[in-house]
Amino acid sequence: MENMDLILKKEASSEFYIHKEDTNLIPSKSMNVFYNKRMIINRDISSLAINAYATIFKQDELVIVDSMAASGISSIRMLKECKNIKKMYINDINPEAVKLIDQNLKLNNLNNENFQIEITNKDANLLFSEIKGTSKEMRKPNIISIDPFGTPNIYIDSAFKVIQKVDGLMCITATDTAVLFGVRPNVCFRKYLSKPLHTEYCKEIGARILIYFICRIANINKSGIIPLLTFYSGHFLRSFSLVFKGKRKITESFKNYGYILHCSNCGYRATFRDNILKIPKKCPICQKIESLDYAGPLWIGKIHEIDFLKEILALNKNSNFPCKKRIEKLLSYAMDENFMPISYYNIHRLCQDIKIPSIPKLKDIISVIKEKGYQCSRTHFDFLSIKSDLDLPTLKNIIIELQK
Ligand SMILES: C[S@@+](CC[C@H](N)C(=O)[O-])C[C@H]1O[C@@H](n2cnc3c(N)ncnc32)[C@H](O)[C@@H]1O
Repeated sequence: MENMDLILKKEASSEFYIHKEDTNLIPSKSMNVFYNKRMIINRDISSLAINAYATIFKQDELVIVDSMAASGISSIRMLKECKNIKKMYINDINPEAVKLIDQNLKLNNLNNENFQIEITNKDANLLFSEIKGTSKEMRKPNIISIDPFGTPNIYIDSAFKVIQKVDGLMCITATDTAVLFGVRPNVCFRKYLSKPLHTEYCKEIGARILIYFICRIANINKSGIIPLLTFYSGHFLRSFSLVFKGKRKITESFKNYGYILHCSNCGYRATFRDNILKIPKKCPICQKIESLDYAGPLWIGKIHEIDFLKEILALNKNSNFPCKKRIEKLLSYAMDENFMPISYYNIHRLCQDIKIPSIPKLKDIISVIKEKGYQCSRTHFDFLSIKSDLDLPTLKNIIIELQK
């Protein structure tokens, strides 16, 4: 290796350097150039999602903007693992990152021979506006990836201004999960304009707030979105959505906007699509006033497209990606949960509540619930939880029965 300050790493198809002193740090802003091996699943799924998108939406020329590339590993993997790439913008605001991206591209023998590669050292919003300025002569990007530290909120508007309006693919990560999951409700209201709720299913609420926010920013840019896949893993949410235009279609998608009602006394939960002023003041089940709360506005429609998940799963099967097994599990749960009502029940917590010493297997609980004629599935948001259309008291009785 030429440079003693760098260390060589490998991830899926690609090799890359990171700074040696960064390897001893917990991944954070304080690194010379950011790299987090816990985000490999994000990069694996992004490569798979881009290939699935190119196939399903028949995109034979991809123009991708990796607006926050850090070491460049994500862009490099896309260049080596994804088909149909015509142009790749690789950008980061950190000049050290840009130097490393240059070296990492050379290391992987990637140059302008087979595709156009443009490396830039800019604020992502400036990059988007400059690409927009040239997009009369150039092809508009059909894929934009936003992968910031914390919230993506301030980058989404300028990204929608430049992305291809028909069948563009917006890929957005949020790592401010404490905000979206309701630990810091005022920050969520300020950054995402919605009220979160710190419930047992706060991860799903957070994902739905993020999708709603993306959708509303699309709306002010004369666009709408179809959520293709939104997943939670470890400490982040990543959302892939398809962009469309057309006033009628946009208006139709308003049916996906609403609220979630939650009663902390009896566990009642429901979606609510009407005017916020008409949100009930007391729980319709236990009649308590002070225990009924709400989250929203948020996205209450489907958060995945099944064909998209199927294509990703098929591609994953034929891959040798580091997170192949985790992706298989995560996406099969995502397929099942898509047809279920909003929210989930954490079985471990429930067993603690009803003071049951040993926890029944989730698969046994699910089959008993299904035998009784209810819907039931796992959820990718929480591997210890189930989704179902039955109410909390019935679920508790089933668990007590199973225990006997
Ligand atoms: C979480 S890291 C990205 C990780 C990368 N996508 C990967 O897969 O390894 C966030 C990156 O965004 C960069 N960044 C932060 N603010 C930015 C901005 N306003 N414009 C462009 N890049 C920015 C940081 O320098 C950092 O490298």
